[in-house]
Amino acid sequence: MTPGTQRHGETEAEHLRRVEEWLPASRRSWLLGPWRLAGWTTGALPALFGSRAVYGTIAAVETFVDTHYQQQIDHLEREGGQDRLLALLRQCQADELHHRDEAAAMAGQPLPWVLRAWCVVVGTGSAAAVVVARRV
Ligand SMILES: [Fe+2]
Repeated sequence: MTPGTQRHGETEAEHLRRVEEWLPASRRSWLLGPWRLAGWTTGALPALFGSRAVYGTIAAVETFVDTHYQQQIDHLEREGGQDRLLALLRQCQADELHHRDEAAAMAGQPLPWVLRAWCVVVGTGSAAAVVVARRV
């Protein structure tokens, strides 16, 4: 594990801890188990093909996460009244942008077409997972 990878993992663990403070266990989705499996698979599959595939996948996930945070930030800004949550989401989004840029630099450019196609699948699948989570 590289120092950057370890820092990334620690930051994500901190995000999870801080977000869980806002979301009581009773309000959490029953889909967390399947999501964890999907997340593990999304990391394990590219690992079979090397570090460039892993970093490209991380950049794709973080690109989606940035959009996802921005949608929530836009919503809170429209609704108002949740300043502490808004600050938390902005901080998490800034961290994820750093992760995206770091991973994209490690992946290098240009990415092979198969990795670009995989990244489209990852981004689309992540967005689909959010749609499903909002409906169940
Ligand atoms: Fe991240």
